[in-house]
Amino acid sequence: MEDPDPDQHLTSEAKIHITNLLPEIGKEAMQKEVLQGLQARPRYIPSKYFYDKKGSALFEEITKLEEYYPTRTEKEIIASLWDKLQLDGEDVQIIELGSGDASKIELLLSQVPVEKQRHIHYIPVDISESSIKTAAARLARHFPGLRITGIVADFIHQLDSLPREGKRCFCFFGSTIGNLDKNEIRHFMTMLKNTMHNGDYFLLGLDMVKPVDVLERAYNDSKGVTARFNRNILNVTNDLLTATFDPDAFSHVAFFNQSKQRIEMHLKAEKDMDVHFGFNGQKIRLTKGETIHTENSQKFDRKQVEKLAAGNGMRIKQQFTDPKGWFSLVYCCADSP
Ligand code: SAH
Ligand code: AVI
Repeated sequence: MEDPDPDQHLTSEAKIHITNLLPEIGKEAMQKEVLQGLQARPRYIPSKYFYDKKGSALFEEITKLEEYYPTRTEKEIIASLWDKLQLDGEDVQIIELGSGDASKIELLLSQVPVEKQRHIHYIPVDISESSIKTAAARLARHFPGLRITGIVADFIHQLDSLPREGKRCFCFFGSTIGNLDKNEIRHFMTMLKNTMHNGDYFLLGLDMVKPVDVLERAYNDSKGVTARFNRNILNVTNDLLTATFDPDAFSHVAFFNQSKQRIEMHLKAEKDMDVHFGFNGQKIRLTKGETIHTENSQKFDRKQVEKLAAGNGMRIKQQFTDPKGWFSLVYCCADSP
């Protein structure tokens, strides 16, 4: 999450337009949110604060690791998905939430015949401005007919500010929904349902429960990239709160919580320390062994998938999975049967 830039600007690529809606939330609200988590017991930092420029680059590195199965497994499904989505034939907005490097939409769009690409308006939505800019420029080069409107925004709070123009398909890949807590999911699904019209679609990527050793390896990779990604949230916090965290004084902890069916990531203080906040003059004291909870990554089973969709007023049209059943893409619509 970089400094909010209130200006809309048109890049040199005629068909790319980027808008930053984060200033509507404001830096003070973000500072308050992070400080509140750091003062809570147990302490936490919301996982959306992983994604400054460095955090987004580290996540991209994670997606290429041998141990991190979700990206390649979801891409295996997306590689032959376009024809099954029945989106051909009319103008459509593809709105991708938490678009990141947009490599999944790129894979999907590469299956669209060239003459049909100009009927697509791609709208990546991400809190990371650097991700939106890089991805939009690359996609414009690869798909010259595509119209692209990048939106830097928080998809939990700003879903109702997205442009609407005819038929829409919302894509939420990567199982990023699993990083939200129950209240955020409820709020997100309600907002999404309310913004969807009859005939709109929602394509949701969900990581499924699987053997614990596979799960734990994916979040404790041998190159230590996930550990660097985890610690980087303290750099983002230092920037936002003018704080004095020393990321090297924390160790990376990631494990599968069986009863909650989720991977949890924490940062463990390796010594006693005071952390000062320049922006308001306050401080907190952490003792050796104390942890800061930085992420949950929920893993789903079939029942939960149905509950997630039906419990929030969506109808599941179709489900796509890989041969091992490790990842699911759930295609939903908001209309009545
Ligand atoms: N969809 C990509 C990236 C997943 S990483 C993939 O599947 O590989 C999660 C992405 O969601 C990051 O790019 C991050 O910046 C973005 N993100 C996380 N929380 C967000 C929020 N509240 N609002 C908008 N974007 C968010
Ligand atoms: C973006 N999100 C779905 C990733 C996940 O697997 O929960 C973030 C991540 N955290 C550690 N590794 C990857």
